[in-house]
Amino acid sequence: MDHPASTTALAFVGSDLPDEDLELLRRLLLECRGFDLGGYKGACIKRRIAMRIRACGHHAVAPYLQLLRHNQGEMDRLLATLSIHVSHFFRNPSTFTTLQRHILPELLQQTAQQNRPLRIWSAGCAGGEEPYSLALLLAELLPSGQGLSLLGTDISPAVLEQARAGLYDRSRLAEVPAAVLQRYFCAEGEKLGLRAEIRRLVVFRQHNLLQEEERFPAADLVLCRNVMIYFSRAEQEKILSRFAAVLPEHGFLVLGKAETMVGAGCNYFQVECATERIYRRNDRSISFQAQEPGVHKE
Ligand SMILES: C[S@@+](CC[C@H](N)C(=O)[O-])C[C@H]1O[C@@H](n2cnc3c(N)ncnc32)[C@H](O)[C@@H]1O
Repeated sequence: MDHPASTTALAFVGSDLPDEDLELLRRLLLECRGFDLGGYKGACIKRRIAMRIRACGHHAVAPYLQLLRHNQGEMDRLLATLSIHVSHFFRNPSTFTTLQRHILPELLQQTAQQNRPLRIWSAGCAGGEEPYSLALLLAELLPSGQGLSLLGTDISPAVLEQARAGLYDRSRLAEVPAAVLQRYFCAEGEKLGLRAEIRRLVVFRQHNLLQEEERFPAADLVLCRNVMIYFSRAEQEKILSRFAAVLPEHGFLVLGKAETMVGAGCNYFQVECATERIYRRNDRSISFQAQEPGVHKE
């Protein structure tokens, strides 16, 4: 349970958190939960940790570390605070309009000509809102007989469980057109449930973008929106290069509206649509190894 912080003591804010203490916390999270803070932006992470320290009524790291060692509930709350899971269906609707009108038809044509399934990867998919939005578009666009492999991955097992359940508060569905809402969702208590015919189009699995050993699945279209914004620039560059390695020439990468192509990533992508942060893979070769085709299937 959260304790009210004392009003007489000075507020403990993120910048008060010494790097040595952050390192102690990083090691504890890595040891207990396999979660490595190392690749995340320092200032942003420090602010969030400070929030939890204050919420527990402390003004320093040492007693909080002590608490964390014995309190799994607080460990869960800290991890939830560190990885923000906010998402909703058709987030940034204009991005989905561009995907629907231009990108998906082009990819469907290409993959049909090559007689193979269209492969889409939503990396950092939170509760499934992003890959399900694509599934809703494809339910209308996909020609019969055309194969589809739609993969949603996230570091958090808890959000993946929610994604598989496909039950949403109405607030997450504000951008869904009324006709789509009526056709593909049904009321389940206070929530709306996505129909099985759409849910079964998406496979969810756990995947950590920051883990070197973790292979990246091959895809024709990768969406990684509002995820790398929390990562250090060095990690962003590494991940962008790894996306380049799994995309074929003319494949597409979509970033969040507040994100952009940085560093080494610029060598492998050209801007397709600047306002929507859509990039097209160029023909420069790169040598990270993708997973075998077919890993999208469970
Ligand atoms: C703000 S949500 C973005 C959801 C969705 N892409 C969107 O734009 O609406 C960020 C997601 O990234 C996930 N995430 C954070 N660190 C990650 C990592 N290292 N590997 C994979 N996913 C990560 C979080 O768990 C969270 O669900």
